Amino acid sequence: MKNFHEVTHPLVKHKLSLLRDKSTSKKEFKELVDEITLFIGYEATKHLPLTTKTIKTPIETFESPFLIGKKPVILPILRAGTGMVDSLLKIMPSARVGHIGLYRNEETLEPVLYYFKIPANSKDRHFFICDPMLATGGSAIAAINQLKKRGIQTITFVCIVAAPEGVRNLHQYHPEVEIYAANLDRELNEQGYILPGLGDAGDRMFGTK
Ligand code: PRP
Ligand code: URA
Repeated sequence: MKNFHEVTHPLVKHKLSLLRDKSTSKKEFKELVDEITLFIGYEATKHLPLTTKTIKTPIETFESPFLIGKKPVILPILRAGTGMVDSLLKIMPSARVGHIGLYRNEETLEPVLYYFKIPANSKDRHFFICDPMLATGGSAIAAINQLKKRGIQTITFVCIVAAPEGVRNLHQYHPEVEIYAANLDRELNEQGYILPGLGDAGDRMFGTK
C-alpha cells in the first residue's frame, strides 16, 4: 500500500504481541505503548529536513547537520493518542503538542469532535498525529480535515495497529499522508474493532473497563 509503512523490527513485533495479549496489565500496556512508539516515531521522523551549520569540534571546524524549519507538532487524538506523546517528545524534545478530542459514536462509528487546540502559527509546521488505532479511519480523516481547514499541509499519521479498511479509507481522502504503524492487521469486525487487534486501546491504557 502506497504511503503505508509497517515497522518490521523484531523487537517491535515481540512487544506488539505482548501488547495484544489480554492478560497484559494496565501498567505493562502503557509501558509497551511507550516502547513501541519510540520505534515507530524513529521511522516516522526519518524525512525531517536538515541543513548544515559550522561547528567547532575539539579538533577542527566542521559543517554539521541540524534540523531546519519550525518546530513540529505532536497531535494526539484523545484519549488513547495521549499515551504516545511522551515517547514522541523523547525523540523530538522541542516539538509542540496540540490536542484533538474525537470519539466514535458507538452506533454509527462516526467521529464526533469535542476538543481542538493547536499552537498559533501552525501553518508551516509538520504535524505528527498519533493514535494507537487506525480502524475505520474516520477519526484520522476527521483530524486531518481539521488541520487542512487551517492550511496545514505536512501531516504524518503514527499509529500502532492499522486495519486495511482504515488505510484504504484514509488514502482515499488524504492520499499524500504517510502512515506509520507497527502492524497492518487482518480486518475490522462488525463493531469496528480491529482483528486480531488489541481491544479498546483507551480502556486498556486508562483502566476504564
Ligand atoms: C478509538 C481509537 C481511535 C479510534 C479509531 O478511540 O483510539 O481514536 O477509536 O477508530 P476509527 O479509525 O474507526 O475512527 P475511541 O473513539 O474509542 O475513543 P477513546 O480513545 O476516547 O477511547
Ligand atoms: N478503537 C480501538 O480502541 N480498538 C479497535 O479495535 C478499534 C477502534
